[in-house]
Amino acid sequence: MDPKALKDKAISAIESAPSAQELEEILRAYLGKKGELTIALKSIASLPEPEKQEVGKALNSLRDTLEQLAKNQKTRLLKEEVSLHEEQEFVDMSSPGTPAVKGSLHPLTQTQQKVKEIFSSMGFSSVTGPELEQEWYNFSALNVPENHPSKDMQDTLWLKEDSSKKLSSKEPLLMRTHTSAVQIRYMEKHKPPFRIIAQGRVFRNEATDARHEINFYQVEGLMIDKNITVANFRAVLQEFFRKFFGSDNLSLRLRPSFFPFTEPSFEVDMKCGICQGKKSSCSTCGGSGWLEILGAGIVHPQVLKNVNINPRLWQGFAFGMSIERLTMMKYHIDDIRMFYGSDIRFLSQFS
Ligand code: FA5
Repeated sequence: MDPKALKDKAISAIESAPSAQELEEILRAYLGKKGELTIALKSIASLPEPEKQEVGKALNSLRDTLEQLAKNQKTRLLKEEVSLHEEQEFVDMSSPGTPAVKGSLHPLTQTQQKVKEIFSSMGFSSVTGPELEQEWYNFSALNVPENHPSKDMQDTLWLKEDSSKKLSSKEPLLMRTHTSAVQIRYMEKHKPPFRIIAQGRVFRNEATDARHEINFYQVEGLMIDKNITVANFRAVLQEFFRKFFGSDNLSLRLRPSFFPFTEPSFEVDMKCGICQGKKSSCSTCGGSGWLEILGAGIVHPQVLKNVNINPRLWQGFAFGMSIERLTMMKYHIDDIRMFYGSDIRFLSQFS
């Protein structure tokens, strides 16, 4: 037993203890019941006399030294541990918090809100109608002939006969193909004059591409009064486009068209904002340079008769406009399918 070697080893172990808990273990290894120093102290008895005294003194002094050193070391380690803990636990109440991820309204919802606001400023009230519709409202009352191609299975999503019967409908039910059905529902219950818009989802059984969806949104407009002409339609439309796009400088064109429920009928196109009419390969406008935004016309006298309004006294215009295509032109979105892809990278651009 070499007290000097034991001393060096014990001091070095105590001094390099990394934590108060490990220090306890080191102390036990030297000063515990079976500790190295305790065993050395017990073995003094068997030493010859002069050595006994000398070694005894050295080992007792070593025990005092180790105890004192361990005490100091423990105080230092505990202090360090407390301050480390405080540092880790510290909450700086003045530091700015982590910003919460905020959702935003879908771009189509934003367009619908804007559309409502603009038409409301022109005296149009907002009404709604059902998405699941009867044949009468979607077609017959709108003067659509029995054998019209838009009624066949390519375009219209019909409910199975059983399902229509289960819903106690005397006539076949379908997912409305346009918001024009709401015109009939409104005119059935109200007397002119009136100005309304009806926004909502419509459904068509057709192939999708960059400008066609099977499910899309329309805004229907209807204005019936005593002396309404195409000039009123043009004025309302111009004002709407000016406010919606925030510009007087828009390229729009009015084309003659055909709808069974209007006469005369038009379609309104907007210069393609994606290719500016310059790319024959543009999928948004199909290379035509123009994107069709709405169909419109002067309400057909037969439609007014179907809802008991006298066409000799009242007339007006109606239109059905695509919410998606308006939004595409406003924000230069080249594909309608983006609206339904739920891609957060796309949607978060509209917050
Ligand atoms: C109609 O739906 C008529 N009800 C519009 C109307 C109302 C005419 C009142 C006269 C009076 P059309 O099928 O053309 O018409 O659709 C109207 C607009 O919806 C089109 O101009 C086009 O911008 C948009 N649209 C048509 N089909 C799709 C589709 N599959 N996907 C997205 N938008 C479409």
